[in-house]
Amino acid sequence: MSIPRLILDVDTGHDDAVAIMMAAHNPAIDLCAITVTAGNQTLDKTLLNTLHVCSALSIDVPVYAGMSRPLLSPLVTASKIHGESGLDGPVFPPCNKKEEKEHAVVFLVNTIMEHPAKQFTLVATGPLTNIAMALRLEPSIAHKIARLLIMGGSMTQGNVTAQAEFNIHADPEAASIVFDSGIMPVMVGLDVTRSLVLTRERLDLLSQIKGPAASIFSASMEHYMAACLQYIGESPAMHDPLCVALAADPSLCQTKKYFVGVECSGALTRGRTVVDLSGVSQKAPNAEVALTIDEKRFWAMLEATLQRY
Ligand code: RIB
Ligand code: CA
Repeated sequence: MSIPRLILDVDTGHDDAVAIMMAAHNPAIDLCAITVTAGNQTLDKTLLNTLHVCSALSIDVPVYAGMSRPLLSPLVTASKIHGESGLDGPVFPPCNKKEEKEHAVVFLVNTIMEHPAKQFTLVATGPLTNIAMALRLEPSIAHKIARLLIMGGSMTQGNVTAQAEFNIHADPEAASIVFDSGIMPVMVGLDVTRSLVLTRERLDLLSQIKGPAASIFSASMEHYMAACLQYIGESPAMHDPLCVALAADPSLCQTKKYFVGVECSGALTRGRTVVDLSGVSQKAPNAEVALTIDEKRFWAMLEATLQRY
């Protein structure tokens, strides 16, 4: 099986930065481009963070700026967790990388349409605004991409409200468009990502690795851990990197196809992904939901990532 040609859509914050490290310079992934959306912070900041990570780690792929706010709802960032810059912690050297002139949504549509079908795997680790806009601009891309993996959603509890996970809650209308598009995304939700908790001892172990990626990882995770413990009372989980790891190795998670609906109007439930486990809705499955994960193999992939730079 050929390695996936990956387009990574991010809202670079801390775990997005680790996802970029995992996707780049990886013999199991051909990272073609990175598109950026607002989410963890405003677009100017998520874009700058993405450029900084690529510049500091000599990741020579084009970066495209995308949507600066959700389709309908106001932009609500996660600045408490990711900080004023969106990637507080590491101090980067001067950035020698600029974003491309083309808008991310136009880039996505043109690239997918100009190539034969099933050439590209998309991994989305932020709100789905860019992907939804591309689907609205050219609906046929739903059947032209090889695979779409989404870090988002949950079969049970949320993390930004009791019911909703941050990426879906940030733009539920965009998520609804994506799930209803026929694209059959792989939903990598909190159900699996929450088991990848970065504990103090694991961070201390990974921080002993030498090299530029490990030092950025260590500095950013120190901030991320302190903020998560302060504001959500738990150590951070490796949400976004799991999505990239699963793109590289589909056997990492067991998945099952279900119908997933996105709640867009409930006062208490807006942004919830409603996974129809019993099929009671009689609606055809529209997503592959990740149910279990081989945690040991993930941590080994992360360690190999940090050692690779
Ligand atoms: O809920 C976790 C997700 O929200 C991650 O993608 C994190 O970066 C934030 O965007
Ligand atoms: Ca993210």
